[in-house]
Amino acid sequence: MNSFFDIKKIRDDFPILSRKIYDKPLVYFDNGATTQKPKIVIDTINELYSEYNSNVHRGVHYLSDKMTEKYEIAREKIKNFLNAESNSEIIFTKGTTDSINAVAFSFGEKYIKEGDEIIISEMEHHSNIVPWQMLCQRKKSILKIIPFNDKGELELEEYKKLITPKTKIVSIVHTSNSLGTVNPVKEIIDIAHKNNIPVLIDGTQAIQHRKIDVKDLDCDFYCFSGHKIYGPNGIGILYGKEKWLQELPPYQGGGDMIDRVTFEKTIYAELPFKFEAGTPNYIGAIGLSIAIDYLNNIGMENIYNYEKQLLEYGLEKILKIDGLKLYGLAKDRACIFSFLLNNIPAYDTGMLLDKMGIAIRTGHHCTHPIWDHYKIEGSARASLSFYNTFEEIDYFCETLKQIKKMFE
Ligand code: ALA
Repeated sequence: MNSFFDIKKIRDDFPILSRKIYDKPLVYFDNGATTQKPKIVIDTINELYSEYNSNVHRGVHYLSDKMTEKYEIAREKIKNFLNAESNSEIIFTKGTTDSINAVAFSFGEKYIKEGDEIIISEMEHHSNIVPWQMLCQRKKSILKIIPFNDKGELELEEYKKLITPKTKIVSIVHTSNSLGTVNPVKEIIDIAHKNNIPVLIDGTQAIQHRKIDVKDLDCDFYCFSGHKIYGPNGIGILYGKEKWLQELPPYQGGGDMIDRVTFEKTIYAELPFKFEAGTPNYIGAIGLSIAIDYLNNIGMENIYNYEKQLLEYGLEKILKIDGLKLYGLAKDRACIFSFLLNNIPAYDTGMLLDKMGIAIRTGHHCTHPIWDHYKIEGSARASLSFYNTFEEIDYFCETLKQIKKMFE
C-alpha cells in the first residue's frame, strides 16, 4: 500500500518504536504532543556532548570554533528547509511559544498602541492567544477572533469583516493541533497583505507534515518547535522577513545580542544575533538540523503522501465506529483524530488505550476555546506520523470497539 518508502526501515530508525508498554508493542499516536527521535539525532547529540562541547561565538579555541561552525551550518540548513531568503531571517528560540512571545513583545513595543487591533482565530493554541492577550492588556489594544464552523473550518468572510484600519497584525495557526484543520494560510496572508497587515503563522503542527516555503506563502513570520519535527526539545525557530527583524527591537537583553555595551547605551548585534540573547541551545539547534536532514532524505513529499493515505484509511475506519464522534472534519486536514466515544470520558478512553500499549492525548490540548465552541471539556486525540502504520490503525480501532463494549 505504501509506495513512498520502506516503512520497516523507517521504523527501525526510531529506537523507541520497538519497545513494549505493558508487554504490548508501543503504538505511538501522540505525535501532536511530541514526536520520537531517529537514532541519527540521538547519536549526534551524544557525539556533540562527547566530542565537541564548547560555547559558540565566544572562544578562540578549536572546540568553540567547531561548535560555532556547526551551529551556523544548522541555521543555513533550516534557512534552506524553509526556503527563506537569508540566514539573518532564522532565529533560534526555545520553541513556538518563545517565538510567538518574541514577536508579540517586539512588534507590540514598536507598533501597537491604545485601540489598535490584533486578529487571531477561535482555533488557536493557547500559545497564540495568551501572548497577544498580555500585549492587549499592556497597550489597551483589542483582540479580535475569526470564528470557525462546526466542521472546524475558519469563516473567511467573517475574517474579512474583522479587518479595519486599526488592524496591526494577524496571527493564525497553520494546522490545528486539536482539529487537524489545515487553514488556507496563503489566502489569509493575501487578504491581510492587501490591507498592508503583516501575518504570523504558527506552523507547529504543519511543518512536520508538508513542505513549507515561506517565500511562496509570503508570511511575515513563521514559527515552529524542534521537538515536534523529530528534533530535540528546547529548540525552536522564528522565521521573520528581514525587513521586520531589522526594525523590531530585541526581545531580551544579555550576552551574544550586543555589539558594544557601555553604561550609557548598548549597540545591538546584527541579525540574527540581535534576537538570540544568552548562550543559545546550540546542541538543540544542530540536533534539529540533523532531524531536518533525515526528513529531507525521505522527502517531505513522500511523507505528505504517505500520511494522506494514513489519514484516508483512518478516517474511513474511525467513522465506522458506532457512537464515535469526530471533531474536525475540514476538507484539508492533517492526520489528527479528535474524538469522543459514546459518553465515555476522554480520560478513561486514554487510560484504557494506554493499557493496550496505545499512547494518545486526552483533555483540552491547550485549546480551551475550541472545546467551548463545541460545549464540551475536551477530547481524546490520536495524532499520527509517517512512522505509523495501517496495522496500528486497525489495532487502535479494534481496541476502541472493545472499550465501547466494556462500558455498555
Ligand atoms: N501543543 C501540544 C499538543 O498539541 C503539546 O499536544
